[in-house]
Amino acid sequence: MKKFTNVNKAVFPVAGLGTRFLPATKAAPKEMLPVVDKPLIQYAVEEAYEAGIRHMVFVTGRNKRAIEDHFDTAYELENELETAGKEALLALVRSLTPDDMDCSYVRQPRSLGLGHAVLCAAHIVGDEPFAVLLADDLMTGRDGGPGVLAQMVETFREVQNSVLAVQEVPLEHVKRYGIVAGDAVGERLVNVKQMVEKPSPEQAPSRLGVAGRYVLTPGVFDKIRNQPRGTGGEIQLTDGIAQLIGNEGVHAYRYEGKRYDCGSKEGFLEATVELALRHAEVGPAFRGYLKSLKL
Ligand code: G1P
Repeated sequence: MKKFTNVNKAVFPVAGLGTRFLPATKAAPKEMLPVVDKPLIQYAVEEAYEAGIRHMVFVTGRNKRAIEDHFDTAYELENELETAGKEALLALVRSLTPDDMDCSYVRQPRSLGLGHAVLCAAHIVGDEPFAVLLADDLMTGRDGGPGVLAQMVETFREVQNSVLAVQEVPLEHVKRYGIVAGDAVGERLVNVKQMVEKPSPEQAPSRLGVAGRYVLTPGVFDKIRNQPRGTGGEIQLTDGIAQLIGNEGVHAYRYEGKRYDCGSKEGFLEATVELALRHAEVGPAFRGYLKSLKL
């Protein structure tokens, strides 16, 4: 069998409507909502870049132009900043798209589910392993340690099959996640034997929920192509991955770090407060402000 060494491409499904964040997402993509000073999608792209990935593939939809503009050159803005001698801001704007980073955009014409969104990127990904990052899930690594996707790429090199980021979730929340169960093969690794999308608490095989980070083998594309619709009438990524278990194998990886569910208002607020506290510029003053609140 050929040995996988590098993961070069990341797929970002960003076509979703973001209805949980209306009215903020009526005209603006939910992935552009800022946590402190960066939009959610930028956190995900930076995490992929840190993991060694240089080709970012966005699966977009209508009303998502702002994402393309965010990672494109902003001539007028750069020109103005340059003329005004605002070097630091100019460098900041330019740093969003490093010279060695490529971006591709493909449209998902209909909302048929996450599996379908990933399949829309198949012709760009080709026959090589790839990452999937859901920007709603803002992931931070341990302080000073590698990001979550970097940890997963390292794990992928070891196990040579698909790797899913997982965490324990409360039983009453299993219906929000893809849930996996299997045999522990190390402190952080589980050899997955079963995977089911959004089960009821009674039917959940475990409490190990999949967070929005995946490193997948290209074999998953054919599985998704040939599967029937699943939970919610959608073409589920979970069902495609479940079909890999029996032949290639799949591993779940208990990541080191923290996940903020920025698809929900509570998670978004938690991310905002915690990342603001850690922010070099505003952190100290913000900490003082929070302490002054009589809660
Ligand atoms: C998706 C996946 C689910 C996964 C979750 C992580 O669900 O279908 O398996 O656990 O992302 O955030 P969604 O949140 O899009 O409903």
